[in-house]
Amino acid sequence: MDASGFRGPWDTVVDLGAGDGATTAHISHLFKKVYATDVSAPMRWALARRKFTVLNVNNWDKTGPFNMILCLNLLDRCDRPNTLLNQLRDTLAPGGRLVVALVLPFSPYVETGERGDHKPMEYLPIRVSGLEEQVATVIDSVFKPVGLRCLVWSKLPYLCEGDLRQAYCFLEDVIFVLEAEEGTEQRIKEPIKENERTGCVKKD
Ligand SMILES: C[S@@+](CC[C@H](N)C(=O)[O-])C[C@H]1O[C@@H](n2cnc3c(N)ncnc32)[C@H](O)[C@@H]1O
Repeated sequence: MDASGFRGPWDTVVDLGAGDGATTAHISHLFKKVYATDVSAPMRWALARRKFTVLNVNNWDKTGPFNMILCLNLLDRCDRPNTLLNQLRDTLAPGGRLVVALVLPFSPYVETGERGDHKPMEYLPIRVSGLEEQVATVIDSVFKPVGLRCLVWSKLPYLCEGDLRQAYCFLEDVIFVLEAEEGTEQRIKEPIKENERTGCVKKD
């Protein structure tokens, strides 16, 4: 947050797709009010047990605006990621920060989506290989067109369940800290050209 220039206020945070709230718990003491959502009933129960206010996945945005929104490892698990990104931009308080974590290589899998085949209704245009290239594509072709500006990004290891050959798979989890661009009604509708890279800073 320091690297992104965020100075508060630290009133409200919402963690979307928070799972059991283990990550939310690490930052909850920083805020006066902590909200969370999850589409899974057992996860909502776990979140409520931690005393977070659990919001409905279909109208969580009505409780905003929020000073901070966490969207950690959700864009590749939800049915309509582009619709969600637009909601995120609209629900951020002025000067607020959106934190998105995305496992790369991007591989969407929707547990219970409208299509019924675990594929999302909306695709994000991340088709390239190589981490740095994917990060640039996410910033330029996913965030920028919806009026979200990347301020800093970093990466962490992401461990997920493996198979018979190896217990864990090691993937990259890229963390983006974003702000809503002013005058989002003027947001870019045209595809972003290859040479229009943002000046977003990587932090280790
Ligand atoms: C990969 S887990 C990430 C959990 C946690 N955010 C983390 O990073 O450890 C994705 C979570 O998103 C939830 N989820 C999927 N679609 C959702 C939606 N549309 N709204 C809220 N939660 C959703 C799933 O139930 C699951 O708990």
